[in-house]
Amino acid sequence: MTDWYRDKKILLAVSGGIAAYKAAELTRLLIKQGAQVRVMMTQAAQAFIPAKTLAILSQNPVLTDASWQRDGDTVDHVAWANWANLILVVPATANLIGKIAQGLADDVVSTTIMASRADKVLAPAMNDGMWASPALQRNISQLKADDWLIIDPVTGFLAEGYEGTGRLADLNDIVNQLPIRLLARVDNILKDKQVVITAGGTQEALDPVRYLTNRSSGKMGYALAEAAAERGAQVILIATVKRPVPYGVKLIKVSDTQSMLGAVESYLPGASVFIAAAAVSDFRPVQLAKNKIKKMPGQTSWQLALTLNPDILATVGQAKKPQQVVVGFAAETQNLADNAQKKLASKGADMIVANDVSDQAAGFNSNDNAVILFIKNQSPQTVALADKLVIARKIIDQTMALLASKVLE
Ligand SMILES: Cc1cc2nc3c(=O)[nH]c(=O)nc-3n(C[C@H](O)[C@H](O)[C@H](O)COP(=O)(O)O)c2cc1C
Repeated sequence: MTDWYRDKKILLAVSGGIAAYKAAELTRLLIKQGAQVRVMMTQAAQAFIPAKTLAILSQNPVLTDASWQRDGDTVDHVAWANWANLILVVPATANLIGKIAQGLADDVVSTTIMASRADKVLAPAMNDGMWASPALQRNISQLKADDWLIIDPVTGFLAEGYEGTGRLADLNDIVNQLPIRLLARVDNILKDKQVVITAGGTQEALDPVRYLTNRSSGKMGYALAEAAAERGAQVILIATVKRPVPYGVKLIKVSDTQSMLGAVESYLPGASVFIAAAAVSDFRPVQLAKNKIKKMPGQTSWQLALTLNPDILATVGQAKKPQQVVVGFAAETQNLADNAQKKLASKGADMIVANDVSDQAAGFNSNDNAVILFIKNQSPQTVALADKLVIARKIIDQTMALLASKVLE
């Protein structure tokens, strides 16, 4: 495990939801990692867990409205805000999220948060209806724009007694993800790094006018190139199809699998990330006819002999350097999860993005996509149907986290 926590002064803000009791275990986990922890609580939080418990576990007095308002010569919200180099709001109520997003400061927690220049992270926990509400989602978008790192709630058994999305992320996941996600985001780990992406369906020539191909439009690969370029990466897009090239992206046009592999291999040594989004043909015609193939008089059928193409993802996966991140795609029409897990193991990839291309609303040629991200030693993450650029940004975020975890190793 990383020693990232060793020099961290973490101010844990606890707000008033059922999951407030989990702040006790989180405090213990953070201290075990070597962090210094202080806790502040809203009035509502104190109905769910006594301040005394958190004072004992954090080995520090807890900041509450009562202690803040006490007569004295200290301005607690400023002193505590300046002490922290990380503010962690766990659990974050819908109410507190709304207050921070709107810039309200009417109690000790919201005031201290506003006064602090530290990195800020929050993990919401609430009923699924509250999480899905437009007002809450609007506030979350605002906080992201204000540079907050949001650790999304997960789908699971809610306090209300049924399954839904709104449950606080697993505490160990929060502790493990925090350094990686902050390092990836705050230090923008992709800046000036070379990212090589393939896009589009390969075209395997039969003769000068015909080729074998597939329904891939290249939209997902182009969206990934745009999302990586947004983060400051130097993107090499090796594509079989021409679309508007996003700013900051260098396009290398290829046609078949062999020429795509050649281009990939020439750029790979300088690359930090390789993303295989192209739909590569497994086979190609054994022979490329010099002239257009003609039908013979009386001919009623034709057997086309094919030979195996090189496997670009597996070739890169086997040759990759320890600090390179390799991402593959699995376009499947059945057994999506099984096939993606197998691909993760067999291709030497760090992440497989699986999409069900039999779904008309997503996959090939559509502007939208819905995917599941499979990452070694992590539970699969479902990314719901959205514009391909939105999906691409999620994939790039996750790729940045993988890159950061390699740096931290
Ligand atoms: C029993 C009970 C459970 C609650 N659980 C949650 C919760 O899980 N998440 C949430 O956002 N609000 C929850 N609330 C609502 C908050 O407690 C309420 O919005 C409160 O004003 C939050 O104050 P705070 O944000 O200052 O802590 C709950 C309320 C009650 C009475």
